[in-house]
Amino acid sequence: MSVWAILVAAGRGERLGLDRPKAFARLGDEPLLAEPLRRLDRSPWIDGIVLVAPPGWEEPAILLAEEEGCGKVHACVAGGETRSDSVRAGLAEVPADALVVLVHDAARPLVSDEVVERVLAPLSEGWDGVVPGLPVGDTLKRVGSDGAVQETVSRDGLWTIQTPQAFLVDTLRRAQAGVADATDCAGLVEAVGGRVKIVDGDPRLLKVTSETDLETVAGWL
Ligand code: C5P
Repeated sequence: MSVWAILVAAGRGERLGLDRPKAFARLGDEPLLAEPLRRLDRSPWIDGIVLVAPPGWEEPAILLAEEEGCGKVHACVAGGETRSDSVRAGLAEVPADALVVLVHDAARPLVSDEVVERVLAPLSEGWDGVVPGLPVGDTLKRVGSDGAVQETVSRDGLWTIQTPQAFLVDTLRRAQAGVADATDCAGLVEAVGGRVKIVDGDPRLLKVTSETDLETVAGWL
């Protein structure tokens, strides 16, 4: 079984307020992208990697992969306007004979082999896609634009979803062809009737969106 990873790193990361894209924000002593790239490259579960870089940043991304000795990176392409566009650009570079694809946000640097193994395992049991998640712990309320609470929403059965997300390559290609957009790849697969399973995620798969998140993740390194 050949497993390919698409590492999407083309977000602008405007909320960080930096002069460079989020993938090149400093995490400890390195650009943020180095951490997830190295982790995926060293994973025994992964055979090849497609890196999706911010437009204009393909060369620094390739240089970084070389510096880190990431020999599994087979292609580096520019991302698109939305995350879905970036995944699409990455998927186009995944070879036709690949069986499984793992899509991962570079903004979640601390991807582990354990979670990769957890999302891959159910694919051999007939699931079309597998996503890591965490059950919602906080109380949920619907709030109007005036700040008034409208209702308390039951959190029964609600999960927050992370990456890496795993799919049979053909399933994801078909879902992409059939649906215009979704907030994550699993959403595309669900929209064409695919069965998606949840496995335990990891609080350390926090998505970096703010300076505080960067500090939190740096503290976990
Ligand atoms: O924007 P958001 O935080 O949801 O991004 C999640 C992941 O998707 C990040 O790793 C980001 O780099 C990537 N992304 C992308 N292309 C975009 C937008 C986001 O590759 N146009």
